[in-house]
Amino acid sequence: MNKQILVTGGTGYIGSHTVVELQNEGFDVIIVDDLSNSSIEVLDAIEKITGKRPAFERFNLADREKTGAFFENHQNIDAIIHFAAFKAVGESVEKPLEYYRNNLVSLMNLLENMKKHQVPNMVFSSSCTVYGQPELLPVTESTPRKPAESPYGNTKAVSEDIMRDFSNANENINCIALRYFNPIGAHPSALIGELPVGIPNNLVPFITQTAAGLRDELKIFGDDYDTPDGTAVRDYINVVDLAKAHVVAINRLLKTKQKAAYEYFNVGTGNGYSVMQLVKTFIEVNGVDLKYQIVGRRAGDIEKIWADTTYANKELGWEAEKTLEETLESAWAWEKNVRNIK
Ligand code: UFG
Repeated sequence: MNKQILVTGGTGYIGSHTVVELQNEGFDVIIVDDLSNSSIEVLDAIEKITGKRPAFERFNLADREKTGAFFENHQNIDAIIHFAAFKAVGESVEKPLEYYRNNLVSLMNLLENMKKHQVPNMVFSSSCTVYGQPELLPVTESTPRKPAESPYGNTKAVSEDIMRDFSNANENINCIALRYFNPIGAHPSALIGELPVGIPNNLVPFITQTAAGLRDELKIFGDDYDTPDGTAVRDYINVVDLAKAHVVAINRLLKTKQKAAYEYFNVGTGNGYSVMQLVKTFIEVNGVDLKYQIVGRRAGDIEKIWADTTYANKELGWEAEKTLEETLESAWAWEKNVRNIK
């Protein structure tokens, strides 16, 4: 029988790409999502890509009763990949309690049901935000965590601690946190991708929406950083490569290859690109015009970060494969598909 994976937030950006890769690898998937930041049509797209429609239930996992009832009704779950969370950094500063309640309570509800219903494995979406601005680059897994810059970032750090403590306290529970760097791009089919509600906060969706004519111009936040061209540097990882890292982590848990009950890995490419380099590459590979203007720094932004991927490459046997060029092509192909641009 196929292994069954519960993917929370499975209609979201990274979740939907991960569901595709899981189904391609022969896993059965059940998605739980409250659709607060995604749309039900994603299920059609996943079905079109993989030939299989994942099971789906709509509710918020911070609801303890509904989460309990879900596990009562689904006794055959082998592992959970937990994406469902609020993720807007700026909004989390305005609404800290909503972020703490939603992101932490949903995790705790899942963990208590893992124990109750003998679901031994969880992969969690963490973030390089837990490193803050590191003193030394690239960032390894032994780079110390820093106090979070935002309530959102803090929910990732605290979630990691909760998982560590819970898996240490419960012999049969194992968790892997994947610390993502900056996920960008879309599935090569252009049938799924990132579709933010309202004005995008993140760089690549803002670029693609500007190129599509939805926004007047891109504002580049700061060119006075201590980087080669003065703009901030990030490690941009293709979302399909990132999705595949989840499948690898799931297999590691199912085959009990982990070295400790709680593990964490950096998931990046190992390359840092500046905002300006990314903008120029986007224009070049896609042959589009993009109006941009340099403005002041954005509050809370760090200057530069990129991953040392040695540990993930070696321990997981996983490596990012796609180039920045093909990733930015995929981002534009997706935006064009969404906006019906030829
Ligand atoms: N940027 C612009 N203009 C924009 C949007 C972004 O110049 O319109 C710049 C940012 O200033 C930053 C870079 O592009 O230098 C990347 O910005 P993103 O918003 O795409 O990504 P961040 O690195 O700021 O955010 C990521 C994750 C968050 C995480 C955060 C921690 O998306 O989940 O890192 O720093 F919390």
